[in-house]
Amino acid sequence: MVCGFRITGSRRDFKYGNDLKNMANIGIFYGSTTGNTEKVANLIQQAFGEDNAGIYNVDITEPEDIQKYPWIIFGVSTWGVSDLQDDFEDFLEVLEKVDFSGKKVALFGLGDQSTYTDSFVDAMGILYEWLKKRGVKIVGFVSRKGYSFTGSMALVKGNLVGLAIDEEFESDLTGERVKFWVEELKKEFV
Ligand SMILES: Cc1cc2nc3c(=O)[nH]c(=O)nc-3n(C[C@H](O)[C@H](O)[C@H](O)COP(=O)(O)O)c2cc1C
Repeated sequence: MVCGFRITGSRRDFKYGNDLKNMANIGIFYGSTTGNTEKVANLIQQAFGEDNAGIYNVDITEPEDIQKYPWIIFGVSTWGVSDLQDDFEDFLEVLEKVDFSGKKVALFGLGDQSTYTDSFVDAMGILYEWLKKRGVKIVGFVSRKGYSFTGSMALVKGNLVGLAIDEEFESDLTGERVKFWVEELKKEFV
């Protein structure tokens, strides 16, 4: 299913905080350098309801933290040109240890479609390919309508492989984008 278009307690996880996170069915895992992806992860959690979704900084996430969830959301920003955010890059080693069978995964990516218009949210596309190669079921595709970029590795058959957010130049749209996407995901996470 592809959705078109049309949150915060900006809270850093503490070293042992992840263990205390709830028993919900949805796990949100993000890597963030300046806090934008973290902010959006919190908005997504709020949109699902805090009791329904646990939230984790990938910097301190273990394979067991992921394994327990049937529905998983990964959030990654793009750095360099077309690079995964640093913590997320390291996190791929953790992901290698997770058995994704029977799980549904959705992706969101932070980027800047004006300054990096040829590589907008490329990291989300790289992560998609990485997961796809391992047979992971990915849901939550989004129409590219309403965005203005010229190129992205996150485009597959004309759609974005997850929710793209531009906090640099379109932060006013973030709340609405998140809400709409989460409503679509609620239909997928069943
Ligand atoms: C040096 C640098 C390189 C970046 N490269 C890209 C890029 O290739 N593609 C993109 O969409 N955004 C790029 N961005 C924008 C960031 O992804 C964006 O600021 C994002 O919101 C950062 O999220 P974070 O603070 O959660 O890491 C870059 C930003 C900087 C400062």
